[in-house]
Amino acid sequence: MNRSGKTMREVERRAEEAYRKTFGREPEVVASAPGRINLIGEHTDYNGGFVLPCAVDRRVAVAAGEGGGRLYSDDFDDIRPLQREEKFSWAYYPRGVAWSLEQSGNRPGTFRAAFAGDVPRGSGLSSSAAIEAATALALDRLFGFELPRRDLALICQRAENEYIGVQTGIMDQYASLLCEAGAALLIDCRTLEARSVPLDLERADLALVVCDTRVERGLAGTGYNERRKSCEDAARTLGIKELRDAAEADLKRLSGEELKRARHVVTENRRVMEAVEALRAEDYGSFGRLMYASHASLCDDYEVSTPELDTFVECAKEEGALGARLTGAGFGGCAIALIPAGGSESLCKNCRRRFAEEGFKEPAFYSFLPASGAEVVR
Ligand code: GLA
Repeated sequence: MNRSGKTMREVERRAEEAYRKTFGREPEVVASAPGRINLIGEHTDYNGGFVLPCAVDRRVAVAAGEGGGRLYSDDFDDIRPLQREEKFSWAYYPRGVAWSLEQSGNRPGTFRAAFAGDVPRGSGLSSSAAIEAATALALDRLFGFELPRRDLALICQRAENEYIGVQTGIMDQYASLLCEAGAALLIDCRTLEARSVPLDLERADLALVVCDTRVERGLAGTGYNERRKSCEDAARTLGIKELRDAAEADLKRLSGEELKRARHVVTENRRVMEAVEALRAEDYGSFGRLMYASHASLCDDYEVSTPELDTFVECAKEEGALGARLTGAGFGGCAIALIPAGGSESLCKNCRRRFAEEGFKEPAFYSFLPASGAEVVR
């Protein structure tokens, strides 16, 4: 049981148990944080735009206590020092968060921590944001910083940008720390204002199916940083700070790659705002059409889709999904479909068959309801 009398999740119990076994004592804090899917608003966050993610019920948990200076992963059965090492490993994420806290003037003392998670890694469900957010929340509690969640999200993003070296926007860390169960989170990535938008899929008799194409990628090795640079170039050509400030009429002043990237960002920002209106009106048909339009734009203009992601979206359309699109950065990873609850089994079955025919890896499927954000459970 946790402090509010709720039963601990399996990953939280696993982290707690791993801590006891590895360090021979009781943890002082146990926290966990979820992965996320993004419903709509892709590659808009680092352009100062809008995103609409929700948390998934797959999490990374950490049990932590002061002293020791060692990090243990139950998933890899691997123990590492808290100090930086030459070779990149999972331990870079918690180390990066400790470094980033220190950079922000909140110096954590030495600590020991054990991790356990069930967010599929490298699949676009933000396992990295989940381990960062869980660590940040646990260290915040352990060392009594009492920082607002928004500050913790920025600290995690800085770890990702400057310690890990991937120029991600703020979406994933914000989603992991601020999402609420039963709702999506509309984030204005310029002002950093965030508002929950209720999403009661059960009442609408709908399901969100996630297809993990199993095409793994760490963002460091993809065109992610290049996409970001093209957007900055396009903003410079237009004489504006960020593509958030561009209107559709401005696009005629661009050409080539800059035009394509900017056109995606400008139209995607509009789609997010329309999608929020559609959700508020419980108009899931319109919401779904916006998802399909987002996928087409990510495929044709942003060029981050893959044959596997496109095949899932095609299958979803054939199976009567209201909408479907790749979610997260693209280049592999996951896609989502919004489908009448009764149709998800047939979608997964047909998609599996199509993947086999095409000679793709066997995909994995998950079905999610919007879950709660990061929590301290002990
Ligand atoms: C990754 C990044 C996010 C965001 C998405 C694309 O998930 O971490 O910041 O840019 O890609 O929308």
